Amino acid sequence: MLFGRDQEVSTLTRLLDEAREGRGSALVVRGPAGIGKTALLGATAGYAEARGFTTLRATGIESEAGLPFAALQMLLAPVRDRIEALPAPQADALRGAFGLAEPVGSDDARFLLGLGLLTLLGDLAEEAPVLCLVDDTQWVDGPSAAALAFAARRLRAERVAVVFAARGADEDGARDEDGSAAQRLTGLPTLAPTALAPDQAAAILAEHAPDLAAAVRARVVADSSGNPLALKELASALDQPQRTGSAPLPPALAAPDAV
Ligand SMILES: Nc1ncnc2c1ncn2[C@@H]1O[C@H](COP(=O)(O)OP(=O)(O)O)[C@@H](O)[C@H]1O
Ligand SMILES: [Mg+2]
Repeated sequence: MLFGRDQEVSTLTRLLDEAREGRGSALVVRGPAGIGKTALLGATAGYAEARGFTTLRATGIESEAGLPFAALQMLLAPVRDRIEALPAPQADALRGAFGLAEPVGSDDARFLLGLGLLTLLGDLAEEAPVLCLVDDTQWVDGPSAAALAFAARRLRAERVAVVFAARGADEDGARDEDGSAAQRLTGLPTLAPTALAPDQAAAILAEHAPDLAAAVRARVVADSSGNPLALKELASALDQPQRTGSAPLPPALAAPDAV
C-alpha cells in the first residue's frame, strides 16, 4: 500500500489512460534512492495489468551498465519475434542488440535502432496498449538509454506509455564516455516524488512497525526526513527494548549509508 502518493499515482494513471486512447507519451520518475520510485512503477504496472496493457520491463543493473544493449535486450526479450516484421533496416539494427547481427555503431544505425524500437512498440500496441517500465535508468547502458529516450520522445498516436525511474543527475549513477544514462532522458517530462509528510510517514510505520512506542515512532519519522526506505531501515535497526521505549535510542538515528 502506497501512502501519500495520490498525486503521483494519478499522474501515472492519467498517462496510461491517455496512452490507451491513442495519445502515447513518456514520463521520468526522478528522485533519490528510497523515495519510492520502484514502488510507483509497481503501482503503475498494477493499474496497467488491470486494463489489459502489455507490459514490458527492464531494469538497469550496475554491473551491466557497460554492456551495450543489455537493457534493451531485457525489455524486448518477450517480444523479440516481432523484430522480423519490421522494415529490414530497422530489423537489422534491432537484431544487433540481440547478438543476431553486428551491433550498431554508426549514428545512422543508432537512428534506425531508435526507429525500430518505436515501430515495434507501435506494432505491439495495435493489439493491446503497451506500457514500458524502465527502472534504475541511471544504470542502463548508454546505447539502450539513447534508443529508449529517442523512441519515448517520439510517442504521439501510438497506444504506448513509457515510464522511466532514475536517480537524480547529481547522485551516483553509471557514467559512460558521454555522460550518465539518466542524462539521456533530457527533454522528457519529469515527476519528482518528494519527502513524505510526517503523518504519511507515521502511517507507513504504523503498518510496517506497529510495535513501536509512540515517542519512538515520532523520532523515527523525524529522522527519516520523509524517505520511506530510511523510515523502514531505521525502524528495523532498533532492538526490542528500544522499540518499546524502555531503552534509550541511538543519539542520532542518522540515515543509513545505503539510502
Ligand atoms: N508511499 C509509500 N508508502 C509505503 N511504502 C513505500 C512508499 N514509497 C516507498 N515505499 C517503500 O519504501 C521502500 C523504498 O521504496 P522504493 O520504491 O524501493 O524506492 P526507490 O526505488 O526510489 O529507491 C520500499 O520498501 C517501498 O515499498
Ligand atoms: Mg528503486
